[in-house]
Amino acid sequence: MKDTPIKQHLIDETIEEFQIADFSKATIREVKAIAAKAEAESGIEFIKMEMGVPGLPPSAVGVKAEVEALQKGIASLYPDINGLPELKQEASRFIKAFINVDLKPEGCVPVTGSMQGTFASFLTCSQCDEKKDTILFIDPGFPVQKQQLVVMGQKYETFDVYDFRGEKLKEKLESYLQKGNISAIIYSNPNNPSWICLDDKELRIIGELATQYDVIVLEDLAYFAMDFRQNLSTPFQTPYQPSVAHYTDNYILLISGSKAFSYAGQRIGVSCISDKLYHRYYPGLTKRYGGGTFGTVFIHRVLYALSSGTSHSAQFAMAAMLKAANEGEYNFLDEVKIYGERAKKLKEIFLRHGFHLVYDKDLGEPIADGFYFTIGYPGMTSGELAKELMYYGVSAISLVTTGSHQEGLRACTSFIKDHQYEQLDERMKIFKENHPIS
Ligand SMILES: Cc1ncc(COP(=O)(O)O)c(C=O)c1O
Repeated sequence: MKDTPIKQHLIDETIEEFQIADFSKATIREVKAIAAKAEAESGIEFIKMEMGVPGLPPSAVGVKAEVEALQKGIASLYPDINGLPELKQEASRFIKAFINVDLKPEGCVPVTGSMQGTFASFLTCSQCDEKKDTILFIDPGFPVQKQQLVVMGQKYETFDVYDFRGEKLKEKLESYLQKGNISAIIYSNPNNPSWICLDDKELRIIGELATQYDVIVLEDLAYFAMDFRQNLSTPFQTPYQPSVAHYTDNYILLISGSKAFSYAGQRIGVSCISDKLYHRYYPGLTKRYGGGTFGTVFIHRVLYALSSGTSHSAQFAMAAMLKAANEGEYNFLDEVKIYGERAKKLKEIFLRHGFHLVYDKDLGEPIADGFYFTIGYPGMTSGELAKELMYYGVSAISLVTTGSHQEGLRACTSFIKDHQYEQLDERMKIFKENHPIS
């Protein structure tokens, strides 16, 4: 065995100190903290791939608009709970420009990031009909969303889509929907953590079943248009970001400022409720609130109770970013394409040293290079691989935490620096020598 770049006892002792009995279940924050401690004590730089945080400067268009708004004094005023009219207008146009779907500004509601968008959506969806008390996750997924349901005491069910792509998705989804307890279905597209992208055939299946079984689809577009295999960046022109909105009226689109615009720090997103859903009455909502439609309850009851609206200045930023994108003046995807370039290089290094991509295909086609990818190593479980890679100064999270049933890790490209490809190559060479594949 060759010496590992980080002394094993340093990692083992830190894991013990954090009282993590099963490393496959370590959270992102725990992995980050262990890596930071090992890095400080060993003086050896970690290749950090656990956090899904934008690693790029924020959109200059957004910063300029936000600073100007602050200088005009808007910080002293409560924002309109419905949202800044200009932002609602631009969000509606953005959906037309980049998805080719008509959705009125009324239903485009600013939220303090998609995190709040999903929280408010889970809550409202769960209150529509008392028989429907469960959210269905098409996993793998973003772990914090399940945490949100735990916090609010709601039930969820989940399946790993790995074996149910294409036509197989229909039967699998129906096996849950037939029971009558599902209020909403959630997935992200492109997907965190696997970067698979559901295609139009799959979205049609989801949409048609949502209509048939009267459930609401929460389409999480946190990585909007970041399937770099196609150029989705020209407004009002094909190809468009695929969406379930073409196939059902029961949907909320969750658009985030965090990744596509590198605006995570300001906590801004827009939850876009379809026109039909916005105006729909549900017996559960009428009973609980004495009236209101899905849209008005979402805004005037739920969001009002959660945060009384969304940071005023961040709404100006988001409005300006969407407007510039809609008018073709600002190609937001150009700024984030670098994630795809990094993924390509990183994947090549891992594959050359015996690793494989866990989620590797979208119905026969290799997955896109983007913000995340998933890796596995022959004969190693998720927990073993995550821990073992820490000895080599590489931190990533286990797929176990994402609802995946596959053995492997999620690697995020956002914090990779140019000098780290060589570092990774050297370290993975030793890894392979220490773990020969039979
Ligand atoms: C799939 C997914 N949804 C939502 C979010 C959160 O987005 P926001 O920063 O807008 O709350 C993330 C962030 O990592 C994500 O990966």
